[in-house]
Amino acid sequence: MIKEKKIVIGNWKMQLSPEEAVFQAKQLKKLVSSKLAKNVDIAIAPDFLSLNLVAPIFQASGIALGAQDTWYEDKGSFTGQISPAHLKSLAAKYVILGHSERRQFASETYELVNKKIIAALRNDLIPVLCVGETFDERKEGRKDLVIMQQVQTALQKVDILATQTLIIAYEPLWAIGSGQATQPAEAQHTAMLIKQSLIDVLEERDLPLVKILYGGSVNPENITSFISQSGIDGTLVGGASLEAQKFIELIKQSDL
Ligand code: PGA
Repeated sequence: MIKEKKIVIGNWKMQLSPEEAVFQAKQLKKLVSSKLAKNVDIAIAPDFLSLNLVAPIFQASGIALGAQDTWYEDKGSFTGQISPAHLKSLAAKYVILGHSERRQFASETYELVNKKIIAALRNDLIPVLCVGETFDERKEGRKDLVIMQQVQTALQKVDILATQTLIIAYEPLWAIGSGQATQPAEAQHTAMLIKQSLIDVLEERDLPLVKILYGGSVNPENITSFISQSGIDGTLVGGASLEAQKFIELIKQSDL
């Protein structure tokens, strides 16, 4: 049986200045071995200002480039927005969509995220759709329902070509940046729930094209417990991706 490669995406959020991003990108490039890059799909999503600076550093390094958001039109009068076609032209491979920080602080809805997913696929970018419950939703026993609704709203009328991939990252909001990751068994249960809810929105032939990641306080110590779960194809990492040495440690653990 062919071993599926695990996917590890580092989300640098708005944490590094362009100078710091260039420094960390160069460090990462030095530290990543060709064997590691062959066994794990590694990506970094810097902020938009750093994306263009980091792109040439990552060229032929085995580290792919991701964006943290995109707009849903390719071109036009959309002040302040970023075109998915332009991201593609800068060699971006992934685009994170619907991250909870965008939903929380920029009032982004899953209806908008839906349009962005369609735009990303139209431009052959791999969407990384983020879903996850708040602490209160979890406490009230609504977690599963909330996640199913998020997935189904975000994926309305989404068609995936046979050559494309769609990623869904399960990120419980209370686990992000808190140092308190969810239990690996629960992440696996939710990955299965996500797969189940896809049946109602996607064509059957598209289902194998979807990969599931876990995100929320992933670090070099706990990553193996998540990615060794069946049904979890990798991780989305915030804090532990900001420092090259630590991120490489984490990726080494993903080379199961
Ligand atoms: P964290 O962030 O790893 O710092 O918890 C994860 C994320 O927001 O994607």
